[in-house]
Amino acid sequence: TKVGLIFGGNSSEYEVSVQSAKNIYEAIDKAKYEVYPMALTQSGFMVDLETSKQLFDNPHLEVENKAAVENVANIVQLGDYQDVDVFFPIVHGNIGEDGALQGLFRILNKPFVGSDVLSTAVTMDKDFTKIIAQSAGIKVADWVIVKRHTQDDWTYDKVSQKLGSTVFIKPSNQGSSVGISKAIDEESFNKGLAEAFEYDDKVLVEEAINGVEIEVAVLGNENPQASGVGQITTPEGEFYSYENKYIDESGATLAIPAPISEELTEEVRAEALKVYDILECSGLARVDFMLQNSDSQIVFNELNALPGFTNISMYPKLFELAGITYPDLIDHLISYAKE
Ligand code: DAL
Ligand code: MG
Repeated sequence: TKVGLIFGGNSSEYEVSVQSAKNIYEAIDKAKYEVYPMALTQSGFMVDLETSKQLFDNPHLEVENKAAVENVANIVQLGDYQDVDVFFPIVHGNIGEDGALQGLFRILNKPFVGSDVLSTAVTMDKDFTKIIAQSAGIKVADWVIVKRHTQDDWTYDKVSQKLGSTVFIKPSNQGSSVGISKAIDEESFNKGLAEAFEYDDKVLVEEAINGVEIEVAVLGNENPQASGVGQITTPEGEFYSYENKYIDESGATLAIPAPISEELTEEVRAEALKVYDILECSGLARVDFMLQNSDSQIVFNELNALPGFTNISMYPKLFELAGITYPDLIDHLISYAKE
């Protein structure tokens, strides 16, 4: 089977994607699969297979290597790879995780790993995700939407009356916590909004949930399976930011499994499967919740249709605990790929 492993892309999560793809490339069963690494540069073009491989160890090669730039082909030329049997996109954020690439696979009539156009488009947008989940009875943190052109209608006083004195500000379409900040007064609110608008025209201002983040990995199509629950502990007063996700790893610790009761674990797993079903996911997703300190209620936060997939990421770690090794997980995902 020939696998087109697509990675990179023009989002702020480019580096994470390169690392995920590198680890997949190294671990995939070579006896069963022939892998074509296909990198998308940060400007959105596809590079040739040899250059793609070089990016694994030098992610910013294309900006400094002129030969690579001259070899770029538009992403649409994926159609030239007629011998690819299945595409495995591990591109986080826009283009990769928002339905765009999935639409291209559909046009090419090729099977691909992960959720389809509708599901990826919806789950990339935190606002639409919450609207759908809430309408299906899933508990979410209260929020308001601020659009670039309605910005002047909103002040810290107005949002804090509705959402409480501590709020989170998030670009609606972003991953890895890029552009997210916490606001506690007028000054941090204005600064946070300005920062979030650097990434999106639509921004969520969200009630802060006092608790810890817990995550569940889900795998499969019609009868998906949920992993155990993982927990992220950040230092008092901090949230799970880009910085402590990838840069200062001492800033957050993962507990797998989460130190919670068996009963609560089952409740979280069931809720993750429900969210996966409501949002019509397929293949894989990581479902993120907050576990509220005061009453142990679980509050759905977001769903990642193409979660971080490095060999130390939460998604594969959770399945490792469930007895599925990293190479086996890749194998399962490819077998779930649909046209
Ligand atoms: N968006 C990042 C890659 C994650 O959810 O893991
Ligand atoms: Mg998250």
